[in-house]
Amino acid sequence: MPASFNVDDFRANFPSIPRLTYLNSGSYGLLANGVRDALTGYMDGRIENGADWAGWVGELEDVRAKMARLLGTDADEIAITGSASSGLNALASAFDFRSERNRIVVSNFEFPTSAQIWHAQERAGGEVVHVAEGSEGRIPLEHFEQAIDERTAIVAISQVCYRHGGRISDDDIRAIAKMAHQHGALLVLDSYQIVGTEVIRPRDLDVDVCIGGMLKYLLGTAGIGFMYVRGSLISQLIPRATGWFAQADLDAMDIFASVPSETARRFEGGTPPVPSCIASSAGLSLILDTGLDAIAEQVRRVTRSALDALSEAGIPFNNPNEDAQRGPLISIPSLDDVGMVDSLASKGIVTSCRDGKIRAGFHAYNDEGDVARFVSALKDHRDMLGTAPEMAAARF
Ligand SMILES: Cc1ncc(COP(=O)(O)O)c(C=O)c1O
Repeated sequence: MPASFNVDDFRANFPSIPRLTYLNSGSYGLLANGVRDALTGYMDGRIENGADWAGWVGELEDVRAKMARLLGTDADEIAITGSASSGLNALASAFDFRSERNRIVVSNFEFPTSAQIWHAQERAGGEVVHVAEGSEGRIPLEHFEQAIDERTAIVAISQVCYRHGGRISDDDIRAIAKMAHQHGALLVLDSYQIVGTEVIRPRDLDVDVCIGGMLKYLLGTAGIGFMYVRGSLISQLIPRATGWFAQADLDAMDIFASVPSETARRFEGGTPPVPSCIASSAGLSLILDTGLDAIAEQVRRVTRSALDALSEAGIPFNNPNEDAQRGPLISIPSLDDVGMVDSLASKGIVTSCRDGKIRAGFHAYNDEGDVARFVSALKDHRDMLGTAPEMAAARF
C-alpha cells in the first residue's frame, strides 16, 4: 500500500464514522464532507444566481472527464446518464432485433435492471438466453460457450453479482469478450458493484460497453450513471432513445431532424442531472486523489480479514473465497435476513440483505474495528445464521 494512504485519514472524510459501522456501500456509499460541501455550494449558487447554465454544463463535462480518467478511456467514449438503466435503454434502442441476429445472452449474475431491459426488447423481436451460475458463486465459461452463437447480438454480464459478491475474473471477461467477438456480438459489462474499489480498464478487458453509476463505491449520489462505449463502435450505434443533450450541436435547437453527437454523448437524453453531477464530481475527486490502487488494496485487506475472521468463527459465507473471484461485497446466509439486518442496525452496524443473505459491502473507509464489530455481532446471533446453500439453488 502506498505510504500516503492512511485509513484513519480517509475515514476522517466521512462524518458518519465512527458512529456507524457502515457495511452498506453496495447499496449507497457514505456521504463524504467534500460531497456535502459540493451540494451545499450548488444550493448557495441557486439562491445567489438563480441559473448558471454554462457552469452546469461544465459540471457535466467535469464528471465525464473524471470518469474517463478513472476508467483510462477518452472522454468522448463516456456518456453521463441519469442512471445505469437509462444508458442501457439508450443502447438497446440502437439495435434492430427484428433481424436474424436477435439474441441477447444474459448472465444470471445480473441486477434486475440489466436483465429486465433486455427482456423488454422481446416486444421488439429480441430473444433472451440466460446463462446459469454453476456452484460456489461462479459462472463456468462453458455456460457462455453453449449460449453464444451467430444469432447473438449482445452478451450482458455483471462483473460482480449484487446478490452474493461472486465475480467474473478479468481473465474470464476477456475470454467471454473473445467468444462474443468471434461470433460478431458485443459484450456489455455492468461494473456497478465494483467500480470505485478497483482499477477497471474496459479497454484492457476488451469489453465494448461498460456501465455503472455513482451512488455506491464511487461515493457520489443517486440520479447519475455512466456508460463507456468503445470509440470505434459509437458511429455504428444510433439510439432511438435520445434528446437534446444527445445531439451533435446542443445549440442548434433543430426541431426538423435528430443529429446524434459523434461521441458517446449520443446515449444521453435531456437536461443533465446537475446536482448529481456536482456531488458525484466531488466523490470522484476523492477517489482519484486518494488513488484507486490504494483504495483497492485497503478493500482487499478488510474483505480478506472479514472472510478469515468468519472462517475462524465457523460462520459460512456465500461468495467465493479467492480474491480474484469476488468483489467488495461479501454475503452470509441467514435464516432470517431481514431480522438479522435489523438486529445489526440496532448495534449501529449497517448492512443489507438479498435472497436470504446478509450483504456487507466494504470500502476503503472500513477498518479492522469494523470487521471485529461485524463478526462479533454475527456470533451473537448464531441462531439466525444459515448454512452456505448451493449457489445455483437460489431462484434459477
Ligand atoms: C449491478 C447493478 N447494476 C445496475 C444497477 C441499477 O442502476 P440504476 O438504478 O442506476 O439504473 C444496480 C443498482 O443497484 C446494480 O447494483
